[in-house]
Amino acid sequence: MRAAVLGGSGFIGSHLVDRLLALGQDVVVVDDFSTGRRSNLAHLAGNARVQILEWDICKPIPVVGPLTTVWNFASPASPIDYARRPIETLEVGSLGVKNACELAERAGATLVHASTSEVYGDPLVHPQREDYFGNVNPIGPRACYDESKRFAEAYITSFARARGLPCQLGRIFNTYGPRMREEDGRVIPAFACQALDGKDFTVFGDGSQTRSFTYVDDLLDGFLLLRAKGDGQPVNLGNPNEMTLVQLADIIRQVAGSGGKVVSVRPLPENDPKQRKPDIARAQSLLGWQPKVPLHEGLKPTLEWYRKHRAK
Ligand SMILES: NC(=O)c1ccc[n+]([C@@H]2O[C@H](COP(=O)([O-])OP(=O)(O)OC[C@H]3O[C@@H](n4cnc5c(N)ncnc54)[C@H](O)[C@@H]3O)[C@@H](O)[C@H]2O)c1
Repeated sequence: MRAAVLGGSGFIGSHLVDRLLALGQDVVVVDDFSTGRRSNLAHLAGNARVQILEWDICKPIPVVGPLTTVWNFASPASPIDYARRPIETLEVGSLGVKNACELAERAGATLVHASTSEVYGDPLVHPQREDYFGNVNPIGPRACYDESKRFAEAYITSFARARGLPCQLGRIFNTYGPRMREEDGRVIPAFACQALDGKDFTVFGDGSQTRSFTYVDDLLDGFLLLRAKGDGQPVNLGNPNEMTLVQLADIIRQVAGSGGKVVSVRPLPENDPKQRKPDIARAQSLLGWQPKVPLHEGLKPTLEWYRKHRAK
């Protein structure tokens, strides 16, 4: 079994590489290191079963030979990253996805694509089911990401219909764990580092906006089941345990044993979703999957990782 992981040096991609290796697969990582880190793969140096190719997938991907799966996890994912790289974000969701489909077709592989809950935008339906079409501003500050991900789903499902490519789409809801960049602007790395420094937790708005958080191991269990049992239609992969950011700060404070109060630093950004919670009935019935790791358990290795690895 040989897999290609596009975006394999990123947060989720690098954990996926570890999982595939543990399952006995050979892995080709394709990554331009734009938001990923070489250090995420440093422990694999000298492993003959891993090949690392530094490459922008917006150009045709020069991987040769058969593959069982092309996992496409290449895209900026944090709001700070895609605000800095809006054109690149749209390109990796369009040109990059085209090249991922063509690689999978050429190599005889199934394409498994990392989509996102952002396809639902600022949802008017709660919780979000896969058949909800979303509420996205096509010209707003988040459009480069949301629309690139929506286009990617349209491209992949059209490619599958027109050319018979086997494909699976996992819509990821906020996922956390070791290796998320501390400065990427997402709430768990930000709160974790603020707690470890004994600082206040900074939020946009008043912290009453809700999110739900999935530990990366749970997410990857879901993706492996999706690869094995998916029906080609999108599946939500997320944890339905919804909480406000104020409640999240409380839990992080308990697990870290420190941390200050919640302070608002700015109004909510434009088009920031106020609520986010997956309906995972489809993942439960189709894949037999549901998340197992409670937040306080997943936060322990995450905080431990920041203690050891973050820049001082
Ligand atoms: N982390 C989450 O909570 C979350 C939520 C929803 C969806 N996702 C999706 O999961 C995937 C991985 O997210 P992540 O959190 O690991 O982000 P990340 O930024 O850590 O990883 C993305 C990886 O893709 C690489 N990449 C970006 N553009 C590329 C290009 N043109 N060519 C080659 N490589 C490129 C980056 O260098 C990085 O290694 C993304 O597609 C993201 O949209 C993540």
